[in-house]
Amino acid sequence: MSLVSAPPAAAAAASPNAGRVPTVRPATRAGDDAFIEELQALAFGPGRFARTAFRIRERFPIDMSLSLIAEVDGTPCGSVWMTPISIGGINGYMLGPLATHPDFRKLGAGKLLAREVATRALARGEGQFVMLVGDRDYYCPLGWAPTTLGNIEFPGPVDPTRVLLFAEDKSLANTLAGPIEAFIEG
Ligand SMILES: CC(C)(COP(=O)(O)OP(=O)(O)OC[C@H]1O[C@@H](n2cnc3c(N)ncnc32)[C@H](O)[C@@H]1OP(=O)(O)O)[C@@H](O)C(=O)NCCC(=O)NCCS
Repeated sequence: MSLVSAPPAAAAAASPNAGRVPTVRPATRAGDDAFIEELQALAFGPGRFARTAFRIRERFPIDMSLSLIAEVDGTPCGSVWMTPISIGGINGYMLGPLATHPDFRKLGAGKLLAREVATRALARGEGQFVMLVGDRDYYCPLGWAPTTLGNIEFPGPVDPTRVLLFAEDKSLANTLAGPIEAFIEG
């Protein structure tokens, strides 16, 4: 038996996901809206309308220019939205929903979408944080941090241990406090 490792090409050929590399683009094409609606229905079911995050998106519109689609080989496979908000007089964004089609999971599309939409939003210099309600195990390795429990006030029930913040100013996760309000324009 040879002790020499298999060459990378052979290893790649053995993987069913070889070459399936997700990319990201703005959701501006015909058919994107229908894809996103179907994906969110598939990922979250009818209960999505009862979620507290949905109530926030009802009050404050999503920023269409930060609606991103992930694709693999030109096929849409994931989506993320951002809602401009403010908390305690500081502007930022709420990320979500984030979803990847079940046929395209574990290819990195979800993490790519989360990272990319946060980077694009904060690069505008108009908001200081990207808040979301999600699993620590998924988002904390990407740079999100737990917030001070109960500090951020939602218009409905939410598990405070799942309220996570991404910000250049790392102290903001501890200090940001108040109800979720409208983004403060110019
Ligand atoms: C969560 C979701 C967006 C992940 O999408 P994805 O494109 O498969 O994510 P990625 O490929 O970037 O990452 C996959 C990795 O994250 C892990 N992961 C997925 N969901 C996770 C979770 N909730 N907590 C911790 N790890 C998770 C996977 O096991 C996988 O691990 P591996 O790389 O070690 O195999 C997708 O499963 C989904 O749409 N789920 C239903 C909707 C949902 O729960 N959205 C998140 C709301 S906050």
